[in-house]
Amino acid sequence: MEQKMIDALNEQMNFEYYSAHIYLSMAAYAGELGLAGFEHWLITQYEEEVFHAQKIYHYIVSRDARAVIKGFDDPEKDFDSLLSMLEIALGHERIVTGRINDLVALAGKLNDYATHNFLQWFISEQVEEEETFMDLIQKVKLVKDAGLYILDNELKTRTFSPPTQK
Ligand SMILES: [Fe+2]
Repeated sequence: MEQKMIDALNEQMNFEYYSAHIYLSMAAYAGELGLAGFEHWLITQYEEEVFHAQKIYHYIVSRDARAVIKGFDDPEKDFDSLLSMLEIALGHERIVTGRINDLVALAGKLNDYATHNFLQWFISEQVEEEETFMDLIQKVKLVKDAGLYILDNELKTRTFSPPTQK
């Protein structure tokens, strides 16, 4: 592989590990809110990102190149709400999609058909990742409306009974 391609793949590998940390941090936030289901879901997302990173790691090594592990900034740990956290996650996935597209373009430019082929899996994966977060955001919004509807119905039943005079 050309060095340019190796460097770009290494950058993406590290970015996938960084993504993993972002989701683990989001899991901890959900846990703090007492949302064990969201916490579990986000830990699963963390595992998926580690898998993505390892997939790139193995590919680099299989091409007789060196995988270079780097550090990264601390992920966000505080969010305004569950919904805004999920919107940040979707924004992050869109950044990842852009990065994968750039990698595919680079592989094409360098006539590196093996890497071009390897990256196709990530192209499909990103379609799924974006869809998964869009669906979850939609569900959270719908559930919020449903919660308001339930609360609204509960408020309808309020009555006033004048205290009995003694
Ligand atoms: Fe990923």
